[in-house]
Amino acid sequence: MDWDAAIRAELKPMVPYAPGLRVSEVRERTGKQTVLKLSSNEHPCGPFPSAVRAMEAVLPRLNRYPDGSASALRRALCERLGVESEHLVVGNGSNEIIRLIAQSLLQPGDEVVFAWPSFVVYPMVTQMFGATAIKIPLTAGEVHDLDSIATAIRDSTRIVFLCNPNNPTGTIYERKEFERFLDNVPSHVLVVVDEAYFEFVQAEEYPDGRTYFDGDRAIAVLRTFSKIYSLAGLRIGYGMLPAPLAAAVHKVREPFHVNTVAQVGAYYSLNDDSEVDRRRKENQEQKAYLYSAFDRLGVSYVPSETNFVYVKTCKPVEVFEALLAEGVIVRDFGTSPALRVGIGTPEDTRITMAAFESVVTRLGSI
Ligand SMILES: Cc1ncc(COP(=O)(O)O)c(C=O)c1O
Repeated sequence: MDWDAAIRAELKPMVPYAPGLRVSEVRERTGKQTVLKLSSNEHPCGPFPSAVRAMEAVLPRLNRYPDGSASALRRALCERLGVESEHLVVGNGSNEIIRLIAQSLLQPGDEVVFAWPSFVVYPMVTQMFGATAIKIPLTAGEVHDLDSIATAIRDSTRIVFLCNPNNPTGTIYERKEFERFLDNVPSHVLVVVDEAYFEFVQAEEYPDGRTYFDGDRAIAVLRTFSKIYSLAGLRIGYGMLPAPLAAAVHKVREPFHVNTVAQVGAYYSLNDDSEVDRRRKENQEQKAYLYSAFDRLGVSYVPSETNFVYVKTCKPVEVFEALLAEGVIVRDFGTSPALRVGIGTPEDTRITMAAFESVVTRLGSI
């Protein structure tokens, strides 16, 4: 077999998604017993207790395939969100829904517009289906430049991805700018609003994507159970999609793409809004502690609406390695002058603050 000729040309320049260092690798490398993984924006606590109980109860029935249409979970989500079931899609992580949307819409010659830096999966799915990525730099304040994104739209544009709040910067665009943007988006373009960190947001001016979803307008809104609900290990997310797009997604998805444990875990996570509120508040408190340490140490950061903070540094490689030596794994972006630091438990915050203190002492200003 001539693999070079056989494998689709679009895949050649791609590199697989890099998940970052594992705790066990860092333990081995540094000899540190206490290692914090603050690099994947996960929640530091386990899933909700009612979800754990329900998931345990379902284990003996895993000889059966999952419910292929995730009917109970979809019904619960529809009720909660006030949307019809023809609009509601669940996925093997919201990541899968991003790919299924791209697979349903994109052909070679199409263009996809998104801010940069933003979620790394947008350029991946664009390239995967032979389309061209148009990356619009964030503003100096690390916020989406929605006017420039609107200006970049052409006849060949098929999708605009908007990550709100944005990963990796934690910033949001506000209601007024979003509404102006929507007024300028032509009807041949699907706007995908990725709200993976929705539940952490506290800003009053945040435009909740659900309120703009009416089933007619070409908007898709995506959310996940991986973050505040602590189900990252199961892979489950959901989206509100225009009905024809949801129907297309059902054609290209695998027959049983969302496993039984994930469906049950997600379903039983939905009845504890007080735990969601508690987690949001605790996240906010820990962020505030971290900000105060950064202010004291002269570390530059971008205030965040999420469970991570974008730290700006002119020594990203050295700081990343120095934090690793302290047993703290953060997300690096190669030589880009920033690192992303996840928010954890109060104990995690204490360790992170001490690690930054030691790194600043060692490296001077960072
Ligand atoms: C902005 C954004 N969208 C989507 C995802 C994917 O989430 P999931 O775990 O639901 O696939 C992530 C995960 O980190 C993310 O940061």
